[in-house]
Amino acid sequence: MPLPIPKAELHLHIEGTLEPELAFELAARNGIELPYADTEELRKAYLFDDLQSFLNLYYSLMTVLRTEEDFASLADAYLTRAAAQGVRHAEIFFDPQAHIARGVPIGTVVEGLWRALSVSEERHGISTRLILCFLRDEPAESALLTLEAARPYLDRITGVGLDSAEVGHPPAKFREVYELAASLGLRRVAHAGEEGPPEYITEALDVLGVERIDHGLRALESPELVARLVRDRIPLTLCPLSNVRLRAVDTLEEHPLPAMMDAGLLCTVNSDDPAYFGGYVDDTFHAVREALGVSRERLRELARNSFEAAFLEGEEGRRER
Ligand code: HPA
Ligand code: ZN
Repeated sequence: MPLPIPKAELHLHIEGTLEPELAFELAARNGIELPYADTEELRKAYLFDDLQSFLNLYYSLMTVLRTEEDFASLADAYLTRAAAQGVRHAEIFFDPQAHIARGVPIGTVVEGLWRALSVSEERHGISTRLILCFLRDEPAESALLTLEAARPYLDRITGVGLDSAEVGHPPAKFREVYELAASLGLRRVAHAGEEGPPEYITEALDVLGVERIDHGLRALESPELVARLVRDRIPLTLCPLSNVRLRAVDTLEEHPLPAMMDAGLLCTVNSDDPAYFGGYVDDTFHAVREALGVSRERLRELARNSFEAAFLEGEEGRRER
């Protein structure tokens, strides 16, 4: 087996790296009883019909995450796996509102994650960034309160993103909080065009000023939008295994990744919620190679794209490539 290609991972929800084994360990640590007999039974629950059915399990399993130590364990477990998958740089999403709603302060989340991230270069050879995601199915006011609550921790946070249930929650709902984020010097990304229409991608660019689109799968329905994304070299953080598990595409063999690369789009391949979707990022590279016949040269192009699309500056960016 050849060594994994060095790559950056740009679309990764840290809560989506919670493996059943760690979920049970954290549940025991915190005296929580999970409604599953064992890890095998929990893994059997990982059968989804769409984004919402996944999110229901994703949010309910988060109850095991209580303390700084729990968040540090979660992040360190991810970084250990990511290193073995050739990841050299990781831009990590987290969902503070899902934790605040359960009584876990944002400081516990950020400081816990930071314990693992701050030693990641030395321990795993992976540089990191943190991206705070707003839950788009919560009110815009809640996003604003969350960014206010995050202010003491902004030295640890590189950017903001937008995730959770997409349809019915267009990007424009979050205009104000993205304006505030921009004024605070934060980078901006958003999930768009995963289940939602191509208009949401255009709106994320025009109204929220995002620099990257997370997923962007449905861009293909609009030739004008594709032309714009190509012209402006707007990166798309695609997650093919997620698209299959959440039924955005029927099978991996039918995934439009090759067509998107042929169209000249700046594509990257990522794992999204690897504990739930059946593979980490290099597993995803292998899967698209097998299912879609993506050549090794094209995999190298995807890896180069990931560093180009990363929020790495100057020397650091050049060194990574
Ligand atoms: N899409 C939207 N929200 C999410 C996802 C996703 O794939 N994973 C975690 N939150
Ligand atoms: Zn995602």
